[in-house]
Amino acid sequence: MTVLVTYASRHGATTGIATRIADTLTANGRDAVCTPIEDVDQLEEYDAVVIGSAAYLFHWLKPAVRFVHEHAVVLQDKPVWLFSSGPLGTAEVDDHGKDVRETTRPREWAELVPLIRPRGDRVFFGAYHPALPAVGLGERVVRRLSAKSTTLPAGDFRDWGDVEAWAREIATELAAYTKSA
Ligand SMILES: Cc1cc2nc3c(=O)[nH]c(=O)nc-3n(C[C@H](O)[C@H](O)[C@H](O)COP(=O)(O)O)c2cc1C
Repeated sequence: MTVLVTYASRHGATTGIATRIADTLTANGRDAVCTPIEDVDQLEEYDAVVIGSAAYLFHWLKPAVRFVHEHAVVLQDKPVWLFSSGPLGTAEVDDHGKDVRETTRPREWAELVPLIRPRGDRVFFGAYHPALPAVGLGERVVRRLSAKSTTLPAGDFRDWGDVEAWAREIATELAAYTKSA
């Protein structure tokens, strides 16, 4: 069984999460490859797929959304997991007491989850390094507006324990799937 872990990333934080998921799957007995989403043409050779993207301004990156739509029919027939790399900072809940992993779910998931019915989805804390050049006008404007506030805390907030635990859950589910297939 080969698992594809594929991802869309602007500044590398999501690449790191995808790589760690693939490494953890491999360490737990699943053969996993990690590939940028633009480099994936077809899914036939994979038995399971993990798809991740960074979230910007409440949205998944367009290549990830496009990928799911383009491959929806094939994805519906495979075990699939989705992840998003998003919230920044260390607060688990926002000012209204809501779980930030819930409030930062990318808007597209409301449509993509019923479309391909993934076995699981997960939001992970992300990373933001203002020294890296902004990509696109929207990011430039938001960065400038938030430079004097705390809305975009700088730093690496990725929780590797959380990422690895999720990847181990996937490895366990796939072991059961292989036995019953
Ligand atoms: C301009 C800007 C807007 C962002 N908007 C969101 C957002 O709406 N939701 C969210 O969860 N994270 C948001 N983030 C945080 C990024 O998703 C986070 O930094 C992510 O880990 C970046 O991944 P990448 O390095 O792979 O692009 C934003 C970051 C920036 C710089």
